[in-house]
Amino acid sequence: MTSTNDIRRSFLDYFHGQGHEKVASAPLVPHNDPTLMFVNAGMVPFKNVFTGLESRDYSTATSSQKCVRAGGKHNDLDNVGYTARHHTFFEMLGNFSFGDYFKEQAISHAWTLLTKEWGLPAEKLTATVYHSDDEAFALWKKIAGLPEERIIRIATKDNFWAMGADGPCGPCSEIFYDHGEAIAGGPPGSPDEDGDRFVEIWNLVFMQHQQVDDEIVGDLPRPSIDTGMGLERIAAVMQGVHDNYDIDLFKALIAASEELTRTDSTGDRQASHRVIADHLRSSSFLIADGVLPANEGRGYVLRRIMRRAMRHAHLLGAADPLMHRLVPELVSEMGGAFPELVRAQALIEQTLEAEEVRFRRTLANGLKLLDEAKAGMGEGDKLPGETAFKLYDTYGFPFDLTEDALRREGLAVDREGFDAAMAKQKQAARAAWKGSGEQASDELWYDLADQHGATEFTGYTATSGEGVVQAIVKDGAVVDSAGEGDEVQLLLNQTPFYGESGGQVGDAGQLSTNEGFLAVVSDTAKPLGKLHALRAKIAKGTVKRGDTLHQEVDAERRDRVRANHSATHLLHAALRGILGEHVIQKGSLVAPDRLRFDFAHPNALSPDEIAAIEAEVNGEIRANESVGTQLMAPDEAVEAGALALFGEKYGDEVRVLSMGRQRADKRYSVELCGGTHVRATGDIQLFKIIAESAVSSGVRRIEALTGEAARQWLLERDAKLRAAAASLKAAPDEVPARIAALVDTARKLEKELAEAKKALAMGGGGGAAAGPEDIAGIPFLGKVVDGLEAKALRPTVDEMKGQLGSGVAALVAINEGRASVAVGVTDDRKDDVSAVDLVRAAVEQLGGKGGGGRPDMAQGGGPEADKAEAALQAVKDRIASVSA
Ligand code: ALA
Repeated sequence: MTSTNDIRRSFLDYFHGQGHEKVASAPLVPHNDPTLMFVNAGMVPFKNVFTGLESRDYSTATSSQKCVRAGGKHNDLDNVGYTARHHTFFEMLGNFSFGDYFKEQAISHAWTLLTKEWGLPAEKLTATVYHSDDEAFALWKKIAGLPEERIIRIATKDNFWAMGADGPCGPCSEIFYDHGEAIAGGPPGSPDEDGDRFVEIWNLVFMQHQQVDDEIVGDLPRPSIDTGMGLERIAAVMQGVHDNYDIDLFKALIAASEELTRTDSTGDRQASHRVIADHLRSSSFLIADGVLPANEGRGYVLRRIMRRAMRHAHLLGAADPLMHRLVPELVSEMGGAFPELVRAQALIEQTLEAEEVRFRRTLANGLKLLDEAKAGMGEGDKLPGETAFKLYDTYGFPFDLTEDALRREGLAVDREGFDAAMAKQKQAARAAWKGSGEQASDELWYDLADQHGATEFTGYTATSGEGVVQAIVKDGAVVDSAGEGDEVQLLLNQTPFYGESGGQVGDAGQLSTNEGFLAVVSDTAKPLGKLHALRAKIAKGTVKRGDTLHQEVDAERRDRVRANHSATHLLHAALRGILGEHVIQKGSLVAPDRLRFDFAHPNALSPDEIAAIEAEVNGEIRANESVGTQLMAPDEAVEAGALALFGEKYGDEVRVLSMGRQRADKRYSVELCGGTHVRATGDIQLFKIIAESAVSSGVRRIEALTGEAARQWLLERDAKLRAAAASLKAAPDEVPARIAALVDTARKLEKELAEAKKALAMGGGGGAAAGPEDIAGIPFLGKVVDGLEAKALRPTVDEMKGQLGSGVAALVAINEGRASVAVGVTDDRKDDVSAVDLVRAAVEQLGGKGGGGRPDMAQGGGPEADKAEAALQAVKDRIASVSA
């Protein structure tokens, strides 16, 4: 038997042997095509090569492309499990020519591979061509020698293939395999063509035209070839089975689920095992390609797929979560061809298990409600929409899961009633929304959110990609288009631009089209916490709703933001480890050029503490462990040791970021966070705290730098040290000792100078007499001095009082353009004259106000230093007048 893996390899090898470049499958999330939810055909990653927008260094290629058809236009989810050939995940084998060969070579390659290389009997094969394609008709006759009745002309869209409403397209030719008379059905184009006897195995598209809005608008630069062959279908043919689920790959997956559930895959249980096997593949590949369960968008399609499988596991009686235990079997079957599955195995298992644990909490009660509702229903009846909504809202049953659960009994669900209940709930939520206070703008964003749902954020894995413009907001109102010079906010259906939240600033970058449109994005906001509004100034051209734009985030700026954000997590962990668990985050800013972190802590940090924090964070950076992301329910995350922000409202899902080295029971830092982070801590390069300060009582702030900014900061510090060393004429290393010595010397000199000034004030030199004079019988010692500091006045006057024994001492000191005065009166003279009165007399002269103290010692001052002598004279006059 030829295994599925052998067939894939043999297909790729055949075309490689014919000069085709082997191209690895692109991820399932199409960053180059915003109109698609998931890649759903082999040509999607080559779309721009066909249209000539992009060129590659090869003109022919071959691939086995991962495809998901479970959301958007192509949705096979409902049929999986109940038919022989529907899958949510499948591989499309293809060969492509970008203006190289055309019809003849394409038909020749297909025929050679099928009949010569793989040995399929020619008589089992039938071809179809587009009704007007005489050329293809003639080629099938010539190359394959098919009789005319086995080259069937088809006039419908079945033989005209288009990628979508927009994009490359052309007539096609399909090859059918006849499974034989035992199976009902007729050849293509016949009335009973829907039977299973003739199965389409390969579609050869002769890519020639371009479509816009389903209309052919022109030709491709060069005629090209796109072919698609479902790997699972051809494997069934080559393994001699009729049902895709009977091929080796599915048999192995189903055997694993049979073993783990201890049930066989017969009767009613067959559908359940098939659903589980199929959904295991789509869920695992989606998770490996960066999709995680969510309540909207791609993440919700993943959740619907996972939960549908989980209900079937429950139907089979699985007592414990099942899906994650099947992952090893999938990895062993497909990990060889898809290494991403091996790399993401742990994440896939954790995500599946967490989802199943969570869903099981409500599943039994939901099923009970469903059983009760079913009791009164008969075949053909519809389950009320209200009940389906309750199952959705309270028990986490996606709508299609409820449909699936009723399908066996021939019951349906009232979709309109469900939609109405959903609309009612949205309305109630809106009414309860308090908003930011700016009613008009809240209203506008609310309307846009209602119309378009949350913006799909693709920026965790990419910094560029296309998006369709959903709305243009200008001057607070929605407009249809905008032109050069306009400043607008743009809402696109998917975007790699991060919207400001959780302390992390919004992304900046550029928007463009091949037609020459260019806009500069300066910032991205996140109104209502779910719309990404790109603030852009249009530099060239115009933009209108529905346009597809190429979005390019400033990746270098984003890298710096990432480093600062991850460093913030490491800092938070270091603070808690070193200062204690009372450290709680109070706020943070993560910008491209710096980070700021506010936290509860009673005291300023000591230099030793700061050094220890820096050392620990840099140690984790150097360990360069990769950063882990997981999605969990908030309570599970907290159980796993994640730091949650107190008072913050979290949704059903939280992202849990783990970084740093493994400690006893968890990684160094485990935090809930929606931000963007480095891949491994080594990307942070360097961490430097540059300031520590108080924000308010009990709240401290640390400001820090990382990477090149930290290095620049250290360089500047070094330059300053060198400059200081140069002016000291010392080596940089000697600077601290030299400054300490200088400070010592300066202190000593200051002290000596003060002593000298005091001595000068008290005695020798200056204008006044050395001994006391007698004023109306009161001994008086007074002087005007230059340069004596105000604070030295009192002690000096005290000393003068001591010298006098009895009398009045006065000093007027001139210092830095001001005059200060102090007057002392010995206790025995206090009744004759008050120091306060005397000082007031002096202060008046000096142009000052007041002056005060006690009767034995008073002090004052004024700005008119040139009146110092007059002030001293005023003191003397006052003594004379009071004692007279
Ligand atoms: N693009 C073609 C298809 O998907 C081959 O059928």
